[in-house]
Amino acid sequence: MPKLIVVDRSGHETAIEAREGATVMEAIRDNGFDELLALCGGCCSCATCHVFVAEDWADAAGAPGEDENDLLDSSDHRGAHSRLSCQIALTPALNGLRVTIAPED
Ligand code: FES
Repeated sequence: MPKLIVVDRSGHETAIEAREGATVMEAIRDNGFDELLALCGGCCSCATCHVFVAEDWADAAGAPGEDENDLLDSSDHRGAHSRLSCQIALTPALNGLRVTIAPED
C-alpha cells in the first residue's frame, strides 16, 4: 500500500497508508482529515481538495491537467506545486509522497 505524508494546516505531519489506485484526496479523506472538504467528491469542479506537493515530489506527481489548472487559478493560495488532490492517482511511483493541505479559500 502506498504511503503518504500529509501535513495539515497547523503544520502537523501524519503518515497514512492508502489503497493503491485511490486518489490522494480519497486517501486523505478516508484517514479522517476534515480540513480537506473535497466537496465535489473528486470530479474536478470545486478546488476544495487543494494541496501543495512537496518540491522533491513535484515531477513524480506531474503537472495539473487543463481543467485542474483553471480551477487552481481561482485559488488565492496557488503555489508552484499546487495540485487538486482528487486528480492525483496513487501509483507505486508515488509511495512516500508528501503533500500539505492548502489554506482554505
Ligand atoms: S474534490 Fe472537488 S476538485 Fe477535487
